[in-house]
Amino acid sequence: MIISESKEEHPVIDRLHPARATIKERFLLTKTGSTKHTFHVSLDLSNAPVRFKVGDSIGIYPQNDPMLVEHVIQAMKAKADDQVTDPRSGAAMTLWEFLSFKANLSRLTSSFLKLFYECEHEHDKKNHLHRLLQQENKPLLTQYLSSHDPLDLFKEYKDVVAPLQELCAQFGPLLPRFYSVASSQMVHPNEVHLTVALFTFTHQGEQRYGVGSHFLCHLAKVGQTSVPIYVQPAHHFTLPAEDSAPIIMVGPGTGVAPYRAFLQERMHKGATGKNWLFFGERNKHSDYFYGEEFEAWKADGKLRLDLAFSRDQEKKIYVQHRMEENAKDIWAWLQDGAYFYVCGDAHRMAKDVEHTMQKIAGTEGGMSEEAAKAYIKSLRTQKRYLADVY
Ligand SMILES: Cc1cc2nc3c(=O)[nH]c(=O)nc-3n(C[C@H](O)[C@H](O)[C@H](O)COP(=O)(O)OP(=O)(O)OC[C@H]3O[C@@H](n4cnc5c(N)ncnc54)[C@H](O)[C@@H]3O)c2cc1C
Ligand SMILES: NC(=O)c1ccc[n+]([C@@H]2O[C@H](COP(=O)([O-])OP(=O)(O)OC[C@H]3O[C@@H](n4cnc5c(N)ncnc54)[C@H](OP(=O)(O)O)[C@@H]3O)[C@@H](O)[C@H]2O)c1
Repeated sequence: MIISESKEEHPVIDRLHPARATIKERFLLTKTGSTKHTFHVSLDLSNAPVRFKVGDSIGIYPQNDPMLVEHVIQAMKAKADDQVTDPRSGAAMTLWEFLSFKANLSRLTSSFLKLFYECEHEHDKKNHLHRLLQQENKPLLTQYLSSHDPLDLFKEYKDVVAPLQELCAQFGPLLPRFYSVASSQMVHPNEVHLTVALFTFTHQGEQRYGVGSHFLCHLAKVGQTSVPIYVQPAHHFTLPAEDSAPIIMVGPGTGVAPYRAFLQERMHKGATGKNWLFFGERNKHSDYFYGEEFEAWKADGKLRLDLAFSRDQEKKIYVQHRMEENAKDIWAWLQDGAYFYVCGDAHRMAKDVEHTMQKIAGTEGGMSEEAAKAYIKSLRTQKRYLADVY
């Protein structure tokens, strides 16, 4: 991977040739009392020749937590400046560089276990590994791999001595993470804003953070740390070419990020098309991201806004419930040529929203279930039902 440092040095910025940005500003969007931590992260692009359009995402190569890297080096009984070769690129580097920037330290693979089995001499431990690797014990192996990381393995089999390079070859690659652009380059030419939810989970009873979100929200130093980035273009998930087209945007949680960019750009251009945003989060007092901006556009008559705060009352209220309440108007906007966007959680939300759209086509358009499905499909074909879900 070659990192471009100046506008002249490398004209192409892509996955293999990321540009180098720094964090210009970072603050919590969630307020005191919130049950989550979501950050606004603004990247300074003054030295990064990056062009993006609203709807695109930014690919970021994170750095692993230095504390974890230190623990892994110790557990490998190695030194930070030991020389190794990155198995994928063939580049020579220190062990510290490899573990910090190239290796997935979260994921344990069976190839690690095979190497440890070959190198383990203690009878019981070797037997345990042997048992895990038997074809008939696949569920046991899956369970072990999903509940342990490489550091756990190094600690559990601490007497194993394996060649350093062979150990390094077992790590999966540290892959880039993606974040939707939350600003328009027409408004902020030398910046890109991101909305980053900090991932937390429990591993072996300890609280852990996701690699990319931990890097952006905590580890990277504002104005200092180099953040390798590139643009992951959206194919169709962007503003309509016609400024007069109405848009309906559904984005709970971080799914709201691209719509802040859409709205910034439409306001900047003085686009005449109507704008409607459905935003949802847990609690209004603490999780109404960019609330002041949305409320100001609403007050100016430039934005129709419907909010769903799921945990402000006993019964959950989600964006799709607000859509149902507004079914008539959604249908009218669609008849008027509106583009429909959904962004955020792919597992449940996006499916529920699509289901709600089908219901609306049924109740308001008088369509059968079959016809409603075909209608949504036709909107997709016309690139008027656009999803960016993860
Ligand atoms: C096109 C696109 C746009 C996106 N836009 C945004 C955005 O605008 N904002 C945003 O916040 N996110 C966005 N995402 C999601 C983002 O890319 C990351 O997936 C997210 O930040 C989590 O990455 P992470 O590196 O912090 O977590 P990871 O380290 O990748 O961890 C992710 C998952 O793995 C689990 N996990 C990892 N290690 C372990 C372990 N040892 N034990 C148990 N579980 C483990 C965690 O529970 C978690 O569920 C987007 C994704 C895509 C594809
Ligand atoms: N493990 C972590 O630490 C962590 C942190 C952040 C995000 N994530 C994951 O990252 C993705 C995006 O997260 P996010 O922070 O942007 O927000 P999110 O978790 O998707 O939550 C945003 C809002 O959507 C609501 N919601 C939950 N299920 C829904 C559904 N079926 N339909 C509509 N709305 C629904 C949530 O309500 P309720 O939560 O009250 O049900 C909340 O009010 C999700 O997949 C999420 O699970 C994980």
